Amino acid sequence: MAIYNKVADAPKTPFYYYDLGSLQSTLNCCLEEAVKYNYQVHYALKANVEKPILAKISACGMGADCVSGWEVQAAIDNGFHTSKIVFAGVGKSDDEIEFAIKNKIFCFNCESLEEIEVINNSAKKMGSVVTIALRINPSVEPDTHKYIATGQSESKFGISYPEIKQTLDKITELKNIEIKGLHFHIGSGIVNLANFKELALKVNDINDWFLSRGVEIEHLNMGGGLGINYNDPDSEPIVDFKGYFSTFAQNLKPKANQSVHFELGRSIVAQCGELLTRVLFSKTTASGEKFLIVDAGMTELIRPALYSAKHKIENISAKVDNRDNNIERYYIGGPICESSDIFAYDIEFPLSKRGDLLAIRSTGAYGSIMSSHYNLRPTAPAYFSE
Ligand code: LLP
Repeated sequence: MAIYNKVADAPKTPFYYYDLGSLQSTLNCCLEEAVKYNYQVHYALKANVEKPILAKISACGMGADCVSGWEVQAAIDNGFHTSKIVFAGVGKSDDEIEFAIKNKIFCFNCESLEEIEVINNSAKKMGSVVTIALRINPSVEPDTHKYIATGQSESKFGISYPEIKQTLDKITELKNIEIKGLHFHIGSGIVNLANFKELALKVNDINDWFLSRGVEIEHLNMGGGLGINYNDPDSEPIVDFKGYFSTFAQNLKPKANQSVHFELGRSIVAQCGELLTRVLFSKTTASGEKFLIVDAGMTELIRPALYSAKHKIENISAKVDNRDNNIERYYIGGPICESSDIFAYDIEFPLSKRGDLLAIRSTGAYGSIMSSHYNLRPTAPAYFSE
């Protein structure tokens, strides 16, 4: 059942709605499981940066995972302690690097030798010594869409196996950086926990290799990537954090003095949000496809157009009026001048009419944050349960 149900009083569509109670329950569960193993969780801001959401997450003591200077700024502005901010990203600009050094963040997750040399030079100029983690590309093939898989041998992310030794030899000469961590992230939207087991086992070997070279690794950062149930969000409003963290606890072997960190985005915020939209028109194509054209489009939610992602859609008006037993087959598309602006293809859906309020579920992560102004559309507003 959709989170939002006030059909008559609904604000102008399209809009995002977030249930902060559901977010809090998710945070509680995540931390309860992580604390069992003394794991530290950083929230990946790239998933959603709405202020009430960041306020709740920072208040529960999580750290922040940022991929731009602007995200570092947002983390600081919204209550995350700088000593818990990590800064990743394959292309950090000089300004972003200097901003993060000035703010004394916990760690830079570094993706190439050249980047490390630039960070070292900036740190030298600023009279600092900066903590870094090496992001190693572990060459694990995750079960997810190719656009959000990041840890395979051909992807642009991380330092590849053949480059590790040369990178290490070079950076041990640099005086303004200290390698204290190893960082990994194999991809996003992963529900097959065996992928994380494979990662953990590879990290054990990599960790041993670094220690054998005399590098004192203090923390292992396993990245994020835990997927959620998009097909049936009500059956799994909170993901299996227990299974996720215990997969690492059973397979990852940190040394006695090493802390273990995670960077979770989607699994924390996806299920607490949904996109509300109204049916504008119904039409049938020459070849018989029945379309519902709605007032939200790929400008508000690009995931279906970009990754062929499937989000559950509900007709809230039909449910409230008790007319949801009359089932049709529909394509549901937005108003944008792109043929990929389709949210659903040929799905079973209640017979719908102009003005019906629909909820596109599980859009709390990578929804509003990836929106655009294409066709000069304004930003859809966000409303919160509290
Ligand atoms: N750490 C790093 C280094 C990452 O690149 C990401 C996500 C995360 C953590 C958080 O991953 P999560 O726990 O959210 O899976 N726009 C795409 C997802 C892109 C994810 C990019 N990196 C989508 O809508 O599915």
